[in-house]
Amino acid sequence: MRRVTRDQRATVKVKLNGRLVSGDAEPRMLLSDFIRHSLGATGTHVGCEHGVCGCCTVLLDGVAVRSCLTLAMQADGREISTVESLAANDGALNSLQQAFRNNHALQCGFCTPGILMSFTDFLKRHPHPSEEEVVEVLSGHICRCTGYAGIIAAVLEAAGSQNAKTGETL
Ligand code: FES
Ligand code: FES
Repeated sequence: MRRVTRDQRATVKVKLNGRLVSGDAEPRMLLSDFIRHSLGATGTHVGCEHGVCGCCTVLLDGVAVRSCLTLAMQADGREISTVESLAANDGALNSLQQAFRNNHALQCGFCTPGILMSFTDFLKRHPHPSEEEVVEVLSGHICRCTGYAGIIAAVLEAAGSQNAKTGETL
């Protein structure tokens, strides 16, 4: 990471959802604000801004992080994936998004981008999760609407359909 003084702005270059993009950031600028305001990817939501609600979760080099607890400059030269990366170019939902639709796993949808990104990372590393493991990951997110049952069902359904596609069995 480059050295800059407290008020100096610097250009931060990232690969956002497969595209090289850049924007100016002050040293204290949060990654969540950089993604939304400088790069215009407003699918990432901001709630508590102190790491509790999880709705700002994005993937940084493939790993789920709270973008409200990460500085924009920490992402310089790295790869960011946001909720906008999940659907196909023609708008077709991926299996996790489709499972959320099937199971009524969202209502207002404010928490949904962060939950989708957390489970995108989680299912990659844990393709055969137990319900308890799903609940544990979900404990890092706050949803005011759903009561969580639909989200748990959706994640388990997505895991099943992803495994069916790759020919794996549980
Ligand atoms: S806005 Fe980042 S965890 Fe709530
Ligand atoms: S769907 Fe409304 S906060 Fe989760």
